[in-house]
Amino acid sequence: MDKYFVIGHPVKHSLSPEIHKMFAAQFDIEMSYETRDFEPGGFIEGMAVLRREDSPKGANVTHPFKMDAYQYCDEVTPRARKCEAVNTLIFDGNRVLGDTTDGKGFVNDVTQRCGASLTGARVLILGAGGAGRGLAAALQEEGCARIYIANRTPERAHSAGAALGCASGSFVDLISEKFDIIVNATSAAFSGAAPAVPNCVFSECSLAVDLTYAALPTPFMQLAKESGAVRVEDGLGMLVAQAAESFALWTGRMPDTKPVYEKLRAAFDASVAL
Ligand code: ATR
Repeated sequence: MDKYFVIGHPVKHSLSPEIHKMFAAQFDIEMSYETRDFEPGGFIEGMAVLRREDSPKGANVTHPFKMDAYQYCDEVTPRARKCEAVNTLIFDGNRVLGDTTDGKGFVNDVTQRCGASLTGARVLILGAGGAGRGLAAALQEEGCARIYIANRTPERAHSAGAALGCASGSFVDLISEKFDIIVNATSAAFSGAAPAVPNCVFSECSLAVDLTYAALPTPFMQLAKESGAVRVEDGLGMLVAQAAESFALWTGRMPDTKPVYEKLRAAFDASVAL
């Protein structure tokens, strides 16, 4: 049976094993998919043990190892090179190929499940870390009218903006800006907060998406709703959609994301109702 893993730290609460098992069931594919927690700074050692003991066919890589995975690969796709991040490993004999499916997952979720159009849209990305830069790179293929990267530390926004050819600024600079789609790619939620952006930035926003997900609306989702965003979403849809892209790279089959998303969403809703 082919073995797959998701590597991260911490990773024990990852939904990826459940998602990939549901995908595999759609095609009657037998595979195992498990979490592997590597010590921070221990990516290379962890990979050596994993490859020696388990001979994986593929792996997903999540926080904080996406950049380590990028450096580890023998070959990466152009989109992974653009973001300098890898979330999908494909083991081909002794060679390791790396790709990133996060951006495509976001685009698919927003356009297909949310029914939003990116063509001609003014898009604001909050956060200039790996997640924000990855999104900006993917959105550049989608015909957006404007892509703006804003960050708490403005220098980081400007260097991401210069590298990717996007507009950039601080949160304060957003006071005179309007956007159709606003995405929170910061890790502010880890401290229980929304990024400190001016409320007026949401006044023409038709869709606000937080890349983090939870059973209850995140602080960013609450801020967006209170400030006038028409629709707010968390990152569960993107999580399922990026997983589908990884699954397709490994197996050549593109799973149906809808029932998987609906099942996970229903489980979240049920956990809140308890
Ligand atoms: P990732 O690879 O997941 O994007 P990262 O590279 O550590 O992670 O980046 C985290 C992002 O969240 C950064 O944009 C960070 O802003 P700074 O560059 O100013 O540090 C942002 N971030 C983290 N906590 C935040 C907070 N409380 N408010 C706003 N932005 C925050």
